[in-house]
Amino acid sequence: MDLCIVDHPLVAHKITTLRDVETDSPTFRRLTEELVTLLAYEATREIRVAPVTVQTPVAPATGVRLARPRPLVVPILRAGLGMLEGMTRLMPTAEVGFLGMVRNEETLAASTYAERLPEDLSGRQCFVLDPMLATGGTLAAAVRYLVLRGASQITCICLLAAPEGIERVSALLDDLDTPCTLVTAAVDERLNERGYIVPGLGDAGDRLYG
Ligand code: PRP
Repeated sequence: MDLCIVDHPLVAHKITTLRDVETDSPTFRRLTEELVTLLAYEATREIRVAPVTVQTPVAPATGVRLARPRPLVVPILRAGLGMLEGMTRLMPTAEVGFLGMVRNEETLAASTYAERLPEDLSGRQCFVLDPMLATGGTLAAAVRYLVLRGASQITCICLLAAPEGIERVSALLDDLDTPCTLVTAAVDERLNERGYIVPGLGDAGDRLYG
């Protein structure tokens, strides 16, 4: 898995406010959306486009439009839902599929409780949204779903990631040929004994919706 850490002062400013325990839910939701839009700018660098010509008031102009098939955006419920609006604002014509996944807080194993994805993803570029990559079990399982359905390229957008989680996802997906990239605002120090990212920002789902 390729890794892209977005190094930008606005991203750093917003992620710092997001981490702050004093930041309330409405502000947390707004900042999450804004951050996704900034990360999406990097994450969509390889998005496929097709040439078109449009008529300006003055003359024909050559340009591009997003190519078919449309990209698929997949927020991982619950917390990934807080990132959806920020992504679709930038790519309003994208299709959206859903994965509901939850981590068992004792064993830290991820399980799937909802799945609403197109059956055939052959040739599709997919964007997975989840604020946190902690142990990596959730993200690795989500990527595998998309690969099994034929996705041709997968880009994961996470606000924060733990080094142990990145390594685990890479190891778990090592057997796959599908190109996979992680775009994140920061890689933190480590995971603690409860599987939380340190320093992290706490439980993103609870801070968005709790
Ligand atoms: C959190 C987070 C990720 C997952 C990361 O979700 O949003 O989906 O944990 O953990 P992992 O990398 O160790 O698998 P959670 O299970 O708390 O569900 P929620 O989004 O419904 O709050």
